[in-house]
Amino acid sequence: MRAACRALRKAGKRLGFVPTMGALHDGHFSLVRAARNSCEGVAVSIFVNPTQFGPNEDLAKYPRTFDRDREMLKKEGINLLFAPSAEEMYPPGGVTWVTVEGLSEKLDGRSRPGHFRGVTTIIAKLFHIIEPDVAFFGQKDAAQLAVIRQMARNLNFAVEIVACPIVREPDGLAMSSRNRYLDPAQRKQALILHRSLTRVKALWEAGERDAARLAAAGKEEIQKESAVRLDYFEIVNPDTLDAISTASDGALVAVAAFVGSTRLIDNILL
Ligand code: PAJ
Repeated sequence: MRAACRALRKAGKRLGFVPTMGALHDGHFSLVRAARNSCEGVAVSIFVNPTQFGPNEDLAKYPRTFDRDREMLKKEGINLLFAPSAEEMYPPGGVTWVTVEGLSEKLDGRSRPGHFRGVTTIIAKLFHIIEPDVAFFGQKDAAQLAVIRQMARNLNFAVEIVACPIVREPDGLAMSSRNRYLDPAQRKQALILHRSLTRVKALWEAGERDAARLAAAGKEEIQKESAVRLDYFEIVNPDTLDAISTASDGALVAVAAFVGSTRLIDNILL
C-alpha cells in the first residue's frame, strides 16, 4: 500500500485519504467526492478497527458489506482501496499507542473509555502507511475530528485535515452505518436526536445565548421519546470540547443517545 501511494504521489498527484470502517453510505461518499474534487489521487481504507471498540460494544456485529463497498468505490473512481485484516494491522507485539490526553476523555470518550486511543492509534498507523497530503473526516463525529486535528498538530503529521458536513436522510436522521441496527419503530424514535438539535438551533436563532438553558431545552426534547436514553447533550467549544456557559457563533451542540441498544450521535454548529 505504501509503495502504491508513493507511486501516485511521485507522479505528481496530490493524495487524498478517506479512512472508513465500511458499510458505506452517502456520508462516506460525500468524503470520497470531496477528496476527488481537491486531489488527483484518492485512497480509501475500510477497516473495522477492533481497538476502538469497548468489550461490550458492537465489534462482532458491526455491519460488513465489503463486496458492495468495493463495487461502489470503483464506480466513484477512486485510485486505491486499502482493506487490511486485523492480523495485518495488529500483529503480535503491538505495545505502542497514540493517546491524545484530555480531549480523549470528553464527549464520546467519556462514555467509551479507550475509544479514542484506538481511533488515534489506527489513524496514525494509516497516515504512516498512506502518507496522504489531505485526509477527510466527517463533522458527524465532531469529537473524533477534534481529537484527530490535535494529534496531527502535536505529532507533526504533514497532512491537512479537512472536515465535511453531516449528510442526513431526507427526514433529518444523520446517516450512520449503525442506523441499520434500528427496527422501524426505533428508526422513528431516532429522529428525536436531530429534533433536539433543531430545537436548540431555533432558540439560538431567537436570541437565547445561555448554554445551560439551551442544553436543558435539548435534553427536554430527548425526554419526549421515552424509549430513547440520553448519554450526553452538551454545548462545547469544538476544538477543546470544553463546556461553555455562553453560546457563541461556531459552538458545537452535540448529542449522544441510545435507541434500544444502538448508540447514535449527532451535532450541529451554531
Ligand atoms: P466510520 O464510522 O466508517 O466513518 C468514516 C468517516 O465517515 C468518518 O470521518 C465519519 O465522520 C464520516 N461520516 C460518517 N457518517 C457521516 C455522515 N452522515 N455525514 C458525513 N460524514 C460521515 O469514523 C470512523 O469510521 C472510524 O472511527 C475511523 C476514523 C475510520 C477510524 O477507525
